Amino acid sequence: MKQITIQTASKTYDVRIGVEMTNEIVSFIKKYFPDVSKLWLIADESVYKLHGRTFSEDLAQSFDLTIYQAPKGEKAKTFATYEEAITHGLKHHVDRKSIVIAFGGGAIGDLAGFIASTYMRGIPFIGVPTTILAHDSAVGGKVAINHPLGKNMVGQFYQPEGVFFDLNYFSSLPETEILSGFAEVIKHAFLSDQEFLQKLMHSFRSPAKLDEDFLTDCLIKGIQVAAMGIGHTGNR
Ligand SMILES: NC(=O)c1ccc[n+]([C@@H]2O[C@H](COP(=O)([O-])OP(=O)(O)OC[C@H]3O[C@@H](n4cnc5c(N)ncnc54)[C@H](O)[C@@H]3O)[C@@H](O)[C@H]2O)c1
Repeated sequence: MKQITIQTASKTYDVRIGVEMTNEIVSFIKKYFPDVSKLWLIADESVYKLHGRTFSEDLAQSFDLTIYQAPKGEKAKTFATYEEAITHGLKHHVDRKSIVIAFGGGAIGDLAGFIASTYMRGIPFIGVPTTILAHDSAVGGKVAINHPLGKNMVGQFYQPEGVFFDLNYFSSLPETEILSGFAEVIKHAFLSDQEFLQKLMHSFRSPAKLDEDFLTDCLIKGIQVAAMGIGHTGNR
């Protein structure tokens, strides 16, 4: 497992990248939130169908859990979905000692982070991103929903307690989503590091053949570049 520490003005937290990360998440919550009342899993409905059952069963062995499944893509970031999710939280007795877990791509990260930042004036959240592109939203704390007149028009800055990338989830990503994620990685390489750009051009042959170490390197580089704009990172 690789770990990067993100330092922001309001919070320092770690982004962890590895495989089979659920035990890490459970240990993290037990260590840092011993009084947690409930986990509120806010999941992309498609991702939940693919990976959510195992993930939620494992979490439910250690914690009280409620699950809200949001529509996939930008539909997750509507006022209607936001209201429906808040209603779910209230009906299922999510309280100030509860923790939101965002389980999906960047859209779910934005929705769940915004919910966490506003529910009862703010409760903690943990990111479990399932797309490569979501490495960009793993740092910076930008959380938002859309308005019919513009994307990301309603939001704020709100930092997660931690981010856990489980590379196993990437195995089900459609080719278009892999390419979309790598477009962002390439942008970060252009912005930051000639050597990394060369390596990327040399190593990336096909979205169907992604080596775990290479993917981890790409995520770390992308996160480091994204983090440069907000403060400091440290690698462990
Ligand atoms: N907050 C930030 O700093 C920041 C940065 C970049 C992007 N974003 C936001 O992120 C969103 C785009 O993120 P995205 O590209 O991850 O899109 P997304 O979250 O809409 O996911 C794209 C598609 O991939 C599917 N998917 C996700 N994980 C999967 C998996 N493991 N296997 C199979 N299918 C999977 C989803 O169901 C969806 O259909 C936009 O709303 C953008 O505004 C935010």
